Amino acid sequence: MTRPLKIAPSILAANFAKLGQEVADVTEAGAEWIHLDVMDGHFVPNISYGPAVIKALRPFSTAVFDCHLMISPADPYLEAFADAGCDVITVHAEAGPHLHRSLQKIRSLGKKAGVSLNPATPVSVLEHVLDDLDLILIMSVNPGFGGQKFIPAMVEKTAQANLLIGNRPIELEVDGGVTAETAPLVTAVGANVLVAGSAVFKGEGVDDYRKTVDTLRKAAEGARA
Ligand code: DX5
Ligand code: ZN
Repeated sequence: MTRPLKIAPSILAANFAKLGQEVADVTEAGAEWIHLDVMDGHFVPNISYGPAVIKALRPFSTAVFDCHLMISPADPYLEAFADAGCDVITVHAEAGPHLHRSLQKIRSLGKKAGVSLNPATPVSVLEHVLDDLDLILIMSVNPGFGGQKFIPAMVEKTAQANLLIGNRPIELEVDGGVTAETAPLVTAVGANVLVAGSAVFKGEGVDDYRKTVDTLRKAAEGARA
């Protein structure tokens, strides 16, 4: 089954002083999803932004709001992120002891449920929750910062996740160090949602972002089976 390709710019690399405009511009440039990296300074060694910022950004785009929660615990905040207008809410498998409960909670809020895996976490942790999730996010860097180098071993891991998904309606997303050089490696083995921060937010404004989004899309499409 071929899942449609989506480019998901991470606004972590955008200009925080004008985030609304940045989200509007990158949407106009052709991004299907907006990737929202939420960090708590506890689960990951960095702090970004929370539901109030996401809520303020919601009117600036009709794209899918793809929320990546790098927070622990996540459960107490799921409702706030749902209310803020997130469409997909992804928790880390490492962030809490009750992954199945977190996924059920996200779906009960009417949102798509995702699970993110740190580089060292095997895809086998998802074997028994496949009926309860809508997206698998493979971290191809250690979460916490933009602009890091893609970890090559994550290509094989993405292939494993693709096999595990089979014909199920589950999106396969890769996040971290995704560029026109690394994107084809993961789309060749089944990834269909590409998160990119620094590779997209180069220059400023719609015209610049259209170029970076198109470059990424072309490189990614070319390698798809
Ligand atoms: C890292 C975040 C990523 C990051 C990607 O913790 O989850 O979404 O912003 O940034 P780049 O594309 O610059 O690696
Ligand atoms: Zn992310």
